[in-house]
Amino acid sequence: MKDVHMLKTVEFDKYFKTDSWEEANKSFFNQLAPKYDRLNEIISLGQQQRYKADAIAVLKLEQGMRVLDVCTGSGDMALGMRESCDGLHIDAVDAASAMLIIAKDKARRLEARNVYFYEASALELPFKDNTFDAIMMSFGLRNLKDMSLGLKEMYRVLKPGGTFTTLDLGKPEGHWQKALYHIYYERLMPWLGKVVFHRNEYNSFAYLSISNKYFPSSKEVMGMMAGAGFRNIYDKKYMLGGVAQQVGEK
Ligand SMILES: C[S@@+](CC[C@H](N)C(=O)[O-])C[C@H]1O[C@@H](n2cnc3c(N)ncnc32)[C@H](O)[C@@H]1O
Repeated sequence: MKDVHMLKTVEFDKYFKTDSWEEANKSFFNQLAPKYDRLNEIISLGQQQRYKADAIAVLKLEQGMRVLDVCTGSGDMALGMRESCDGLHIDAVDAASAMLIIAKDKARRLEARNVYFYEASALELPFKDNTFDAIMMSFGLRNLKDMSLGLKEMYRVLKPGGTFTTLDLGKPEGHWQKALYHIYYERLMPWLGKVVFHRNEYNSFAYLSISNKYFPSSKEVMGMMAGAGFRNIYDKKYMLGGVAQQVGEK
């Protein structure tokens, strides 16, 4: 039931011939992979590297830590963590093999030997309990069929005292912020995607705003994190609330 609802909400059902949310989502990201980084630069108005670096800073990384990037995609956060702190052991997982090819290629070009990529589901992480000092998830949560299960799985592999953070689109609250957000994400972006970027393909520019129909607010994400066991939870907003980050400890 959840599959059908999610597939229809974001209109994956029109482009991907499967009844499984996870398969459709994987096909979407495998198809998008070669365009993904360019798309992100456009959608974030060139701001993503700045707020992604700020998002990493909350993890207070230190040499020798073992860290995990879940839903790593093209590897931005895994490689960003490496950039922000020397001497980390970094594991990164993603379900889409084509995204991992891009990530591994970037890591190779940077000669990043301490970053290890795995094809795996965030809902069934291939790691033992209490393995990581810090866990990052950036623009990943909305893709999970069961977000609460994903949060519990990340809680499981985080060490006691470790920090977890998730970053994704937010839901601005002020009047004019809401209006700007509406024009940008719900009008301009989908139009740009349809006309310029994705002719006859699934329109990834529309995905973020359409999936916001089921994606929880920052307050609700914090509630789900508390339900998974996290404590000392707080949030941060970027781009006038258009992007939100939640942070918690085990
Ligand atoms: C929007 S991208 C985010 C990539 C990267 N973290 C970033 O911030 O640019 C979402 C990623 O989540 C991955 N993904 C979706 N569902 C997943 C799952 N169940 N397990 C692991 N990865 C998943 C997709 O393949 C995709 O690469």
